[in-house]
Amino acid sequence: MASKPCILQFLTIVSFLFPLTNSIDFNFPAVFNFGDSNSDTGELIASGIESINPPYGEIYFHNPSGRYCDGRIIIDFLMDAMDLPFLNAYLDSIGIPSFRKGCNFAAAGSTILPATATSVSPFSFGIQVSQFLRFKSQVLELLSKGKKLAKYLPAEDYFQKGLYMFDIGQNDLAGAFYSKTFDQIVASIPTILLEFENGLKKLYDQGARNFWVHNTGPLGCIPQNVAKFGSDPLKLDEQGCVSGHNQAAKLFNLQLHALCKKLQGDFTDSNITYVDIYTIKSNLIANYSRYGFEQPIMACCGYGGAPLNYDTQIMCGQTKVINGTSVTVKACNDSTEYVNWDGIHYTEAANQYVSSQILTGKYSDPPFVDKMPFLLNIKF
Ligand SMILES: *[C@@H]1O[C@H](CO)[C@@H](O)[C@H](O)[C@H]1NC(C)=O
Ligand SMILES: *[C@@H]1O[C@H](CO)[C@@H](O)[C@H](O)[C@H]1NC(C)=O
Ligand SMILES: *[C@@H]1O[C@H](CO)[C@@H](O)[C@H](O)[C@H]1NC(C)=O
Ligand SMILES: *[C@@H]1O[C@H](CO)[C@@H](O)[C@H](O)[C@H]1NC(C)=O
Repeated sequence: MASKPCILQFLTIVSFLFPLTNSIDFNFPAVFNFGDSNSDTGELIASGIESINPPYGEIYFHNPSGRYCDGRIIIDFLMDAMDLPFLNAYLDSIGIPSFRKGCNFAAAGSTILPATATSVSPFSFGIQVSQFLRFKSQVLELLSKGKKLAKYLPAEDYFQKGLYMFDIGQNDLAGAFYSKTFDQIVASIPTILLEFENGLKKLYDQGARNFWVHNTGPLGCIPQNVAKFGSDPLKLDEQGCVSGHNQAAKLFNLQLHALCKKLQGDFTDSNITYVDIYTIKSNLIANYSRYGFEQPIMACCGYGGAPLNYDTQIMCGQTKVINGTSVTVKACNDSTEYVNWDGIHYTEAANQYVSSQILTGKYSDPPFVDKMPFLLNIKF
């Protein structure tokens, strides 16, 4: 899996300005993360609800690793940049996982709104927050009993000094398109965000002070949505993405941004950072060749071939009999040429590009060059 020279060149420039690993001292002792598959590091797989097979993980972990990717996801790159180890999933109990530097409650398929009987993940945002509350109270209880477990658990003050990260909402919107009209979906955004706000308030009441909120990406560009909702070319934009889905994502993001502003006013002793993932990802998809990619939308690991290489009947890594023939879905030859990995999730190469853009600080509100002093602390 060779990287292409232009990616290398690009990364060299990035690493000169903002070295990607071991570089930016965010000064957070721990990270507590909440979300869906965009930041799941093994939660849904640990729950036993779903399993994933090779070639998931092929490019970095060399096993499926619980991530819905061929390698690392955005939060892995951000942890690296903060000089922190990859986050363990809350439910991952095998192999003495350490939660010293934080814990990941994100689970693939999760929504902000409470899960229903047809949800992929029962771990909707409110449940993830409840899991955190239980995690915190258990940690404090264990710490009070002596030092024996201290090296595996966050210290008491990490709960206040730690960074609370969020990347959730994509499944609320994408899922709604199967049963609701565009207008109904747009009308439901305030209800979705009220539930999100309630969760953030619970965390704030428990002492969380540093919030980092990713907005939702251009879900109309995901092959799964193009396959299902993009058969009419009039519904597609010039990139080949479903316009209605992207429009809903933009309207969601406008209101999410306003909520972050409001909460910054309410939580005066806190820092709330809103990160515009949508702009980074849509720029990548529109201008993919400039960033060293060859396929902006087509899945690397999928079935059916161009233009989407995606078929709802069979997922990446699965073996099934289709039309009387046994099919095993394999990856493309070089996943670093693809933005999309499995028809739903981004490749490691795309995640690395997105992470490098997040770390410029330009896509945040407030942008972290003028607000966050840790950026002055660049170690070369
Ligand atoms: C928020 O950021 C400022 C620097 O911009 C820092 O001085 C302050 O300690 C931070 N607040 C919290 C609660 O961490
Ligand atoms: C693609 O790049 C051009 C030129 O830099 C820029 O104007 C445009 O906004 C980009 N497209 C997207 C969708 O970001
Ligand atoms: C299965 O066969 C039918 C009839 O030949 C064809 O229309 C369809 O596209 C095939 N499906 C797949 C997934 O290959
Ligand atoms: C993938 O690599 C194999 C072996 O090098 C080659 O035969 C095949 O044509 C390649 N496929 C594509 C789609 O490039």
